[in-house]
Amino acid sequence: MSEDRVREALGRIRREDFLPRRQRRFAAQDRALAIGLGQTNSQPTTVLNLLSLLEVDEGHQVLDVGSGSGWTTALLGSLVGSAGTVYGVELVPELAAWGQQNLDAYDMAWASIQQADPEALGLPDKGPFDRILVSAEAGSLPTSLVDQLEVGGLMVIPVAGVMTTVRRTTTEPTVVRHGLYSFVPLIVPDVG
Ligand SMILES: C[S@@+](CC[C@H](N)C(=O)[O-])C[C@H]1O[C@@H](n2cnc3c(N)ncnc32)[C@H](O)[C@@H]1O
Repeated sequence: MSEDRVREALGRIRREDFLPRRQRRFAAQDRALAIGLGQTNSQPTTVLNLLSLLEVDEGHQVLDVGSGSGWTTALLGSLVGSAGTVYGVELVPELAAWGQQNLDAYDMAWASIQQADPEALGLPDKGPFDRILVSAEAGSLPTSLVDQLEVGGLMVIPVAGVMTTVRRTTTEPTVVRHGLYSFVPLIVPDVG
């Protein structure tokens, strides 16, 4: 079951390894924690719910949009295993570098973090992906990310305050809403 696998991954990948030193003593608290530069390491219950909805299997190719501290990228790396691949993308350059440094401690060569292209959402050149996790809130569903899913692939994304799953099909995507959550905003490129 997806939630059991996620709980196991949360046991393997320690949240404190993805927090600034001054925040580590709060790692067990179920709330978002500041990681600097106006961003956060997400609330553990929220991460459990997001990753359970994502139904990640071993061997999946996964995109993690808004990798921040690197925690979700490492959790996804643990879920896909060495047969899979995880690409984390983070808009803030200092966080992208720090997230990769945090991830390095777990020695998962199949998971990596790079700075996001400010002019393109996601990583169109590396897709299509089996799974996409977005841990920042979009105002509306970004079609450019839906296009980066495999047909049959699944994305979890907060849209206008509602945790949303999006399954790509050969026609219109299947969109399901799962309840209210609070996130920092997803910065959507205006490439006019
Ligand atoms: C809630 S935080 C990240 C939580 C993170 N997944 C973790 O495990 O700590 C959301 C992140 O999304 C980033 N972000 C916002 N818009 C983005 C975009 N278009 N591309 C990549 N990252 C973005 C923010 O800079 C922020 O670090």
